[in-house]
Amino acid sequence: MAESSLINDPADGSDLSLAGKTPALTEAERRLHDSPFMRACRRETVPFTPIWLMRQAGRYMPEYRKVRASTDFLELCKTPALAAEVTTTAAERLGVDAAIIFADILLIVEPLGLDLEFAKGEGPTIHNSVRDRAGVERLREMDDADALGYVFEAIRLTRRALPGDVPLIGFSGAPFTVASYMIEGGGSRNFVHTKTLMYTDKGAWDAMMSLISRALVKYLNAQVAAGAQAVQLFDSWVGCLGPNDYRNYVLPHTQSVIQNITPGVPVLHFGTGTNSLLELMRDAGGDVIGLDWRVRLDEAWDRLGSEVGVMGNLDPVALFAGKDHIRSEAKKILLQAAGRSGHIFNLGHGILPETPVENVIALVEAIHETSMREDR
Ligand code: CP3
Repeated sequence: MAESSLINDPADGSDLSLAGKTPALTEAERRLHDSPFMRACRRETVPFTPIWLMRQAGRYMPEYRKVRASTDFLELCKTPALAAEVTTTAAERLGVDAAIIFADILLIVEPLGLDLEFAKGEGPTIHNSVRDRAGVERLREMDDADALGYVFEAIRLTRRALPGDVPLIGFSGAPFTVASYMIEGGGSRNFVHTKTLMYTDKGAWDAMMSLISRALVKYLNAQVAAGAQAVQLFDSWVGCLGPNDYRNYVLPHTQSVIQNITPGVPVLHFGTGTNSLLELMRDAGGDVIGLDWRVRLDEAWDRLGSEVGVMGNLDPVALFAGKDHIRSEAKKILLQAAGRSGHIFNLGHGILPETPVENVIALVEAIHETSMREDR
């Protein structure tokens, strides 16, 4: 993580001898900076292992379903007061150590010139998907992130509504996962169209990935400017690639996004099915690497080395199995982390729609109780 760009202002009485080392923080910024989640992102000691959960605001939660009963999904994303409400309600109900702004990784495809639809009961659909060089050439450069202003407004409202010691995570898809939706037009099993474009026209592929990457940098930095304390890149489907393809077609682009995030802002870099890609994902960047449940956390962290933190990695389906199972599985993961600084507890992927809320709360409590240590 680079030094913060915050500049010490002598007029505010801050200690100039610390300039360039410790940023001058307001009292409110200090509380967020010192929170267990932010400390873990910097691999500093924590009083307990911080936990948050991907998709913590979602259909498994009755409060969310109530809002959704009268608002369609895209409209909810585009109504800052409602997006802020579901974000805050989920974080408070669960007692987690960070909130994630309610939005979607696909919102960015609209300012890039594609039509996005979430049809009832189906996944996302992009009607004018990109299949070839001509499709890439039709994409729009996102000069600024103004078209996504509703996300930034939601972040401002959420930041005001959240407790002062609960950081807010901004996010986007990583270039590969965003490109895969733009090319496939929706979810995919084998990513045939994505890989075909990649293999047959590297020039068009790189042009598309670069255009997406430039847009993601503007989008993520605007989320930071609006009040997000950290950002996560979701490369949810990158595990469909082997290491050579990741290195050739993905790594430079993801790296260019991460390198251009506002200095001092922790980046969480997440993917699934990434057992053979972990070292390359670390090389692409990020302060914390997200692990799914298919790897042992201790072995993965040994491979990644001590210069990064790790996030994970309970199987989301464990949350269906009852509280005893949840507690024992959670404990196994904490034992693998072995109190090393830089572990953020999470699931290996998002919470599934039918998950019992009380089991999610039991997980949060179990992590806090089990990891609480007086000597740190
Ligand atoms: O985590 C949170 O609580 C914040 C909100 C959030 C959503 N999507 C809300 C959402 C986040 C972080 C995402 C990220 C996202 N979106 C990813 C990456 C994470 C992952 O699961 O791998 C992906 C791949 C998407 C794309 C997407 N959005 C799909 C495939 C779908 C439909 C299938 C599904 O899981 O529901 C969505 C819709 C979506 N995004 C919902 C929510 C709460 C459900 C919409 C509804 O209310 O019906």
